[in-house]
This record gives sequence, structure tokens and C-alpha cells, in this order.
Amino acid sequence: MNKQVKSRKRVSDHGEVFTSKREVDAMLDLVKDETVRIESRFLEPACGNGNFLAEILRRKLNVVKARYMKSQLEFERYAVLAVSSIYGVELLQDNVEECRIRLFGIFDDIYTNSYFETSKDKCRRSVQFILNRNILWGDALSLKTPDDKAEPIVFSEWSAVNSVYLKRRDFTLANLMMPRGYGENTLFSDLGEEVLIPKPIADYPLIHFLKLGEDDSN
Ligand SMILES: C[S@@+](CC[C@H](N)C(=O)[O-])C[C@H]1O[C@@H](n2cnc3c(N)ncnc32)[C@H](O)[C@@H]1O
Repeated sequence: MNKQVKSRKRVSDHGEVFTSKREVDAMLDLVKDETVRIESRFLEPACGNGNFLAEILRRKLNVVKARYMKSQLEFERYAVLAVSSIYGVELLQDNVEECRIRLFGIFDDIYTNSYFETSKDKCRRSVQFILNRNILWGDALSLKTPDDKAEPIVFSEWSAVNSVYLKRRDFTLANLMMPRGYGENTLFSDLGEEVLIPKPIADYPLIHFLKLGEDDSN
């Protein structure tokens, strides 16, 4: 069983009490359809070591395996997409690191067990690259890094294009969380509601999903 408390000091300093598996499962079941939709995006703004994100990833990867196991490339493509849909922010650096390692482990267990001899390190590298971009050290209240630099938290949006390519666009979390109708970048939805169209701060060329991290960039 996962420990829910690391230390009393961390509970009093940071409110760090992890959610039990039973509660995680029950809460995720409230949005069950989304947890098994491979590309459905989830952000947890105080993700701890990833109790919710881990279960979401596990559910999505089970779907990927059931649907695409017969074709390794398809499995890889959808598994990378599943990982790319999961985002977290956490104040404590050790939790951030644990969360990334944990999510990677969930992917790698399923991947390696499915394609032991033919599994590819470049697929693992892409997953690691995405996790480093998606699970971020940050203060979810100020929407900035918790160090002296206090830089804005910047997330990457990943979208699949022409099956094997990914489009990456970066957005500040502050911009993504602007209330509807705020600022100049609003449009109306087909239901007549004002919707926010956040502006990317960076826009990257298409990249093959197995080439992420190839040139040591971030
Ligand atoms: C109650 S725990 C929940 C962790 C995880 N969501 C879970 O359910 O197992 C709260 C977490 O929020 C983190 N935290 C506290 N203040 C935060 C802040 N301002 N920004 C981001 N994370 C924060 C703590 O370090 C801790 O890991």
C-alpha cells in the first residue's frame, strides 16, 4: 500500500497527504469515459507523486494495448499520445522527480512486456522527454516557479498530425487559466458562449514522435 504521509513536517508545511488508491479510483470513475479516451488532457495542479496521474495513465495505456497491440508502431504512437495528454504541477522537487519516474515506469512496464525484443530506446526517450515537459516544478497558486527566478510555468501542448508527427506549442499556465472572456483572444463557440483562445509563446516545427529529445534540446 502507498504511504499517504511522508513526514509530519511536510503535512504541516505543505499539506502533503497523498490520496489513497480507493479514493483515486472512485474519483476517476466519476469521469470514467475521459480516463479511457487516449487523447483526453488532464492537468493536476498539486499532483504530489502522481497518484491520480498514474492511474489515468494506466487506464489509457490499457486501452492502447487492447486496441493497438498487434502493430508495434501504432501502440507506440498512441502510448506516446497518452503520455503527452497528462500534466502535473507540484511544489516539492522530490515529488516532481518521483512522479516522472513513476509515470515512466508505468509506460515502460507495459511497453517492455509487450515488445520485449523489439522495444525501442528512442520511444522511451520520447516518453521521457514529454514527461520532463509535462510534469513541472511550480507553484500552482502564483503559476510561477517557486525559486528566486519566479518564471512563469510553461506547458507544452502536443497534437498528433499526419499520424506519426507531433505538433508542439508552448503556453504559459497563467494564459491557459485566464477566465473565459478575459483579454482580446476570445471567440464565440457554436453555442454562443465566449471561449478563450490562448496565445502560444512558442510554436515548434512538426517532429516525428520517435525523435523527441534526439538533439538534447528541451
Ligand atoms: C494533499 S497533497 C495531494 C497530492 C496528490 N494530488 C494526491 O492526491 O495524492 C497536496 C500536494 O500539493 C503540493 N502543494 C502544496 N502547495 C502547492 C502549491 N502552491 N503548488 C503546487 N503544489 C502544491 C504538496 O507538496 C503536496 O504534494
